[in-house]
Amino acid sequence: RHLHVLSQTDSTNSALLKLAQAGAEHGTVVCADHQTAGRGRRGRSWFSRPGDGLCFSLLLRGRRLLSDDVHWPAWVPLASGTAVALGIADTVAITPQLKWPNDLLLGGRKLGGILSESLLTTQSPPFFIVGIGLNVNLPQKDLPEDLHDTATSLIMATGRPVDRARLLSNILERLEEQLEPVLDGEIAQAISAYTGLCATIGRQVSIEFAAAPPLIGLAEAVAPDGALLVQSLSSSSGPRKAETVAV
Ligand code: BTN
Repeated sequence: RHLHVLSQTDSTNSALLKLAQAGAEHGTVVCADHQTAGRGRRGRSWFSRPGDGLCFSLLLRGRRLLSDDVHWPAWVPLASGTAVALGIADTVAITPQLKWPNDLLLGGRKLGGILSESLLTTQSPPFFIVGIGLNVNLPQKDLPEDLHDTATSLIMATGRPVDRARLLSNILERLEEQLEPVLDGEIAQAISAYTGLCATIGRQVSIEFAAAPPLIGLAEAVAPDGALLVQSLSSSSGPRKAETVAV
């Protein structure tokens, strides 16, 4: 496997995208000790400090063309969440939960997140850049003010510093195990593994819409296309798919 370890970059997702466009192979990894412009989902930024976090991106090249009836691409980020949770459990013997779609939680606080970016065309198999950011050796006192009540780290949860190289290697092993079937279009195992780790299922959720008031509902399951199925509690219209969910 090609592993690029950088002391600093803007964003490992952006650095890997450039390598992907220049023909980098499936399985290429870019890891950085420090990101100057780490990106999160939904236009947010991703905070990390040099030496304290694990920030890396993995290039996956699909082996099938997209088709309407097969939903495997939606499972690339979801199964990545499963893999990261299992890789953490292999390292520190605590299993994080997943908040749909793929936030990693410990004790209800955010331990890490995943930003998956893909190029989906019908002419050639898609490729994916799965970017993973975890708070590892960041002590409570060094959390930024705005993350004080919502974020956590592995050292906060276990009381011990964690070897980031070992953590990375365990997570990469689990990513391979969980994603190879998905890239071949087989998602049954990914659905059951994800469902077992997902803390959102069975919870009351508030679904946010761009131009309408939020809807309150009960999250029931994750559908084969990766959508969260929510039974509305505000009307009796039956399960519906949520675009975004804030618990
Ligand atoms: C989120 O929860 O919003 C996703 C956070 C993803 C952060 C990681 S850190 C490595 C990779 N490079 C980035 O710029 N973002 C992802």
